[in-house]
Amino acid sequence: MPIPRRIIIDTDPGQDDAVAILLALGSPELEIVGITAVAGNVPLGLTEKNARKICELAGRPDIKVYPGAVRPLVRRPVTAEHVHGKTGLDGPSLPEPTMPLQEQHAVDFIVETVMNEESGSITLCPLGPLTNIALALNREPRIAPRIREIVLMGGGFFEGGNVTPTAEFNIYVDPHAADVVFHSGIPIVVMPLDVTHKALTTAKRVQAFRALGSKVGEAAAALLDFFERFDEEKYGTDGGPLHDPCVIAYLLRPELFNGRQCNVAVEIASELTMGMTVVDWWGVTDRPKNALVMRDIDADGFFALLTERLGRL
Ligand code: RIB
Ligand code: CA
Repeated sequence: MPIPRRIIIDTDPGQDDAVAILLALGSPELEIVGITAVAGNVPLGLTEKNARKICELAGRPDIKVYPGAVRPLVRRPVTAEHVHGKTGLDGPSLPEPTMPLQEQHAVDFIVETVMNEESGSITLCPLGPLTNIALALNREPRIAPRIREIVLMGGGFFEGGNVTPTAEFNIYVDPHAADVVFHSGIPIVVMPLDVTHKALTTAKRVQAFRALGSKVGEAAAALLDFFERFDEEKYGTDGGPLHDPCVIAYLLRPELFNGRQCNVAVEIASELTMGMTVVDWWGVTDRPKNALVMRDIDADGFFALLTERLGRL
C-alpha cells in the first residue's frame, strides 16, 4: 500500500459534503489530517457540528474538526437551508456529536499544518465557500508554494449557475475568497456544475447505498433522499447532482474525469454576474491557465466507487 495522500477537507456540511467525507473515510488511500468547517450551506455552528456527526457515523471520533470562518471576507452571509434543511443535514436522524470540536481556529490549523509538514505533502479539498483558504493565504502567503494541490468543488460555466443564472453557490457566497485562491499560483483542480450535474443520484444509485444494509449506507441514502428533492423539482431529473464527492473521487480515481487546463477568473465587481467563474475554455485570452477544469465524468464508475467505499464503513 503506497503512502496515503494527506488531505485537509474544508467543508460546509451539507448532505453532499457528508457523503464526500464518508467517501474519504472509507478510502485508505487518503489520510484526513483534519477537517476544517466553514459557514456556507448553514451557519458555522451547524457545519462544524455536522462534520462531527458524520465522523461519528463513520466510527471515526478521532478525526480532528476545526471551526473556521463564520462569514465571507466581504459579502454578507448567504445560506441554503431551503436545500439542506434547517440543520444542514436533514434526512437521517443522527445523534448529537460527543467527539470534541478543536479549540484551534481552522485558519491557524491550515497555516500551521502546511508550514510544519513536509512541503508539497498536503492537499486541500474545499467543498464549500473558500473563505478559510483565502484567510490562510492572506495570513501566511508562504503556504502557497508548499501546498501540493487544491481540488475544489465550485463554479460552473457551460451549465451556468445554481444560485444566480451565472454563479454557483460556493463561489457566489464568497467570490473575493475565490478570487484570492485562483490568483494563488497553487495547482488547482475544479469540479464545477458542468461535471457535477452529470453525477445524478438516481433512484437505482441511491438504492445501491440502501442495499449495503449498513448504518452508513442507510444514512447516506436518507441524506440523498432529502438533498435531491430540491434539484429534482428544479431540473425535472431523476435524482440531483452529487457535487462534493466528485472532489474525493478525483483523488482516488482521476481517470473517472476529463477536463482541460484553462484560465478561471471570478467576477467580484458586477452585481449582475457576481461570483461567476469565467472559464476561458477555448483559450481566447492570454490569461494564465491557472486551473484544470473538469467537464466530464464516468458517472457509473463514480457511483460504483462510492458504493464500494461506503460499504467499507
Ligand atoms: O453548489 C453546490 C455546492 O454548494 C456544494 O458544495 C454544496 O454542498 C454547497 O456547498
Ligand atoms: Ca459543500
